[in-house]
Amino acid sequence: DWTMGNVIADQVADIKQRVGTKRVICGLSGGVDSAVAAALVHEAVGDQLTCVFVDHGLLRDGEAEQVEKDYVASTGIKLKVVDAQEQFLRELAGVTDPEQKRKIVGREFIRTFEAAERELIAEAGEHGETIEFLVQGTLYPDVVESGGGTGTANIKSHHNVGGLPEDLQFSLIEPLRTLFKDEVRQVGLELGLPEAIVWRQPFPGPGLSIRIIGEVTAERLDLLRQADAIVREEMSAAGLDRSIWQCPVVLLADVRSVGVQGDGRTYGHPIVLRPVTSEDAMTADWARVPFDVLSRISTRITNEVAEVNRVVLDVTSKPPGTIEWE
Ligand code: XMP
Repeated sequence: DWTMGNVIADQVADIKQRVGTKRVICGLSGGVDSAVAAALVHEAVGDQLTCVFVDHGLLRDGEAEQVEKDYVASTGIKLKVVDAQEQFLRELAGVTDPEQKRKIVGREFIRTFEAAERELIAEAGEHGETIEFLVQGTLYPDVVESGGGTGTANIKSHHNVGGLPEDLQFSLIEPLRTLFKDEVRQVGLELGLPEAIVWRQPFPGPGLSIRIIGEVTAERLDLLRQADAIVREEMSAAGLDRSIWQCPVVLLADVRSVGVQGDGRTYGHPIVLRPVTSEDAMTADWARVPFDVLSRISTRITNEVAEVNRVVLDVTSKPPGTIEWE
């Protein structure tokens, strides 16, 4: 019968049989899907699996550390971390168009991943055979959506850092293909992954690059990271993590408004809060976050984040507004 325990047992047996003694690679994004898929494959083939985590510098505060430390500590998975922050910033310099940003992040991610794969093969020395299998955290809704031709794929080029194009010449292992998100979380819990990973809210592959409206720079990323950390802290403290689907925090980097802070006039940037409720991200409603929580967030951001003098709330449903601003 259909329990997550059985799903795990079946998948593990299946993967063992398919992979034999070959090597397997998996791109970790920090998100739930790739984390659970990798943990499942690790259960089946142990050290034949190596995960690659590309730190593109577009992550939120603490996310890279979470993958580097917590995930490895709880799974024992072999992990190769590639620091590609400078490369991504360089490629994104001067770019303001949302689709352009998405394409650049996608392209650079694949370049970095392929280089990491070549390194892994070289490191294995004379025993270095090509890596035959690639793990993908594809879920059932992904399968349906890409085959179903709903047309939504044309709205934005979704770039999932957990996923790679198939022309990379791997055989794919997709152990979550029959599962919905809540089932994936169940599998993750049963495999002993930390709750902080299992209950993570969705986060887009292009990361903070599409939450800075305007050019992406190191300084702006820094500023947005601080504001985002405050929002997550206050949302968690208010116990809203599971009732809210996600809350993008957006920096309007090219907009300035006049404010008064401390002793004088300021001319700073607005931060937009975009808390939404949703079942599947296809449609969404703006979340009715309690006023006192919003108030704490606003006070803290304007006090603690230099150059931000205004916090605004996005009260648009999807449609017409998408969840992310770009
Ligand atoms: P939108 O903005 O299209 O977002 O309403 C719907 C959901 O998808 C996430 N999102 C992405 N996820 N790669 C991803 O893996 C992407 O390029 C991407 N763009 C948006 C978004 O955070 C929301 O959960």
